[in-house]
Amino acid sequence: MSTSRRGFLKGILGTGAAATALPGCAPDINPAPVTDVSASDAGTVDLLVSRYPDLERVGGALTVRVAGEDTPLLVTHSAQNDFSVLSSICTHAACPLGFDGRDVVCPCHLSKFNPVDGSVTQRPATVGLRKFSSRYNAGTQVLSIDLRAGEEGFPSAVNGEVRLPFAQFPTLKDNGSVVDGVPTGYGKRIFVFRLGDGSLSAVDSLCTHEACEVSSRPAEQDLICYCHNSIFTAKGDVTQGPAVLPLKKFTVTETTDAVVVSGVQ
Ligand code: FES
Ligand code: FES
Repeated sequence: MSTSRRGFLKGILGTGAAATALPGCAPDINPAPVTDVSASDAGTVDLLVSRYPDLERVGGALTVRVAGEDTPLLVTHSAQNDFSVLSSICTHAACPLGFDGRDVVCPCHLSKFNPVDGSVTQRPATVGLRKFSSRYNAGTQVLSIDLRAGEEGFPSAVNGEVRLPFAQFPTLKDNGSVVDGVPTGYGKRIFVFRLGDGSLSAVDSLCTHEACEVSSRPAEQDLICYCHNSIFTAKGDVTQGPAVLPLKKFTVTETTDAVVVSGVQ
């Protein structure tokens, strides 16, 4: 990534002034304009769509930075009353994303993503974008984004605790295994490893460099961030930069019938 591009991304991730028109990066696509908002205590962001002309029109999009959250959101308006919410950071090299009315497009090297599910539709990116749960009320024109929604079938975080029963996750008994998922109530992916020596480790998925989501490499028993190729051990420690800080680490204990991850909040 060029110095100017990196500086631009830091602007997206930082806490600058709200509602900024962003400079163009490629002939036909710009990163979506930025606005700053706050979430409720329950982790919900409500956007009154009519207040944002860039989002109100079909084919429009907005980058939404939420106070206290590391990942900026790309909200797209694909069709009448049809919105979706994805991470606004390209998984190739962490550039801020735009929307051409049909695809989510990265101005840096022209990767494309499906605006509905975040899957890659054009390389060089190979990893899809994180999707956020949202609901649009056409009567009130309010788009509600749930930052704490989880993956169906994965256990929820209750009082900061995620319980993974062996009956549901039998591989967690096997040395050298890894399980991942997004607990409702937390809203971010977590990884749980049974290491080669039989011990357990659980870490968060948010890269400490520039907030991309890391992926596990089961064969290597580690985690890689494809945005700039930082690598972390299964215990979250950095083995290759540019990241310098470890991943957030959770406490893991084991009962006769489950692995219990604590501090998931
Ligand atoms: S940073 Fe997005 S395609 Fe390269
Ligand atoms: S965001 Fe740069 S290495 Fe992860």
